[in-house]
Amino acid sequence: MEKLLRNSFMFLSRNKMMTKLAKKYGLRFGAARFVAGNTIEMATKVIEELNKKGLDVTLDYLGEFIQDEQEANEMANNTIKAIEAIGKEHLQSQLSLKLTSMGLDISDEVVLQNMRRILSVAKQYKVFVTIDMEDYSRCERTLEVYKELRKEFNNVGTVLQAYLYRTVMDIEELAEYRANLRLVKGAYKESSRVAFPEKKAVDENFKQIIKMHLLNGNFTAVATHDDAIIDYTKKLVKVHKIPKSQFEFQMLYGIRPEKQLELVKEGYRLRVYVPYGTDWYGYFMRRLAERPANVAFVLKGIIKK
Ligand code: FDA
Repeated sequence: MEKLLRNSFMFLSRNKMMTKLAKKYGLRFGAARFVAGNTIEMATKVIEELNKKGLDVTLDYLGEFIQDEQEANEMANNTIKAIEAIGKEHLQSQLSLKLTSMGLDISDEVVLQNMRRILSVAKQYKVFVTIDMEDYSRCERTLEVYKELRKEFNNVGTVLQAYLYRTVMDIEELAEYRANLRLVKGAYKESSRVAFPEKKAVDENFKQIIKMHLLNGNFTAVATHDDAIIDYTKKLVKVHKIPKSQFEFQMLYGIRPEKQLELVKEGYRLRVYVPYGTDWYGYFMRRLAERPANVAFVLKGIIKK
């Protein structure tokens, strides 16, 4: 049953018609639990509240799978506005984005041009930018774009997914780039030809890549809500005397907020991924697919209307 629900939400996450409708009608069905609002003003208020509690942020202007050049350029413009807001308001926040919102599906030229614009402004404001990892079909090109940009900028990092077989090799290859990486389990539906189908194998691979990247001496963001992985990381950094400046934990806005504060109280750095904007539908569906128990919130949201 859970698998069926998961697959249904993953299928819905790619529905173009629903994405359009969702944009038009604003945050609905409990999505506000996971999304900070439609506008940058709403998002900055949320960041300020989180910062006051000692939580750092990475801000994401929602958007993905853009096929039109003008739309991709507009996304880049709005992303630059978000960086300027972070810089001018002195918020403790980095920025995250998806390359398909910057033109990855259009051409290398468009995506690189938009990313260079964004990273130049981000550099001015000392804002670090993380390139999220999308589905497997875009993984190779995302890493190629990252490597190209990394040669020119030191304020850019990316994400690797523990569910992919290739990730161990990517960790090794990215070591020479001194890559600042966010490590995650992986949020898309992938074939067993490219990804571990079993949760247990994903978790074991997750531990392995965390260990490899940390022991290679590189900055590692462990992005998970899973206590077992968090506890594993705490032990690992203690045994190997890895300084607090070389790693952090990351979690999504609206998920396990009490655990987020607990980690900060224990002295760890915790960064919250805060999405905002009108293109919330795909992001929201992926959160439901991860944990069909969240559907209860959706149902409550519908009943209240
Ligand atoms: P897992 O799903 O095994 O959950 C462990 C426990 O956490 C659950 O038992 C539950 O208690 C809690 N939990 C997990 N998800 C929850 C939810 N939705 N609601 C409530 N509780 C929940 N993926 C990707 O492919 N590319 C990317 O760029 C990113 N970026 C990213 C940034 C950050 C900061 C985070 C935290 C995650 C991502 N992800 C991602 C998503 C990631 O791949 C993964 O899908 C989710 O983090 C869920 O996996 P967990 O590691 O939390 O473990």
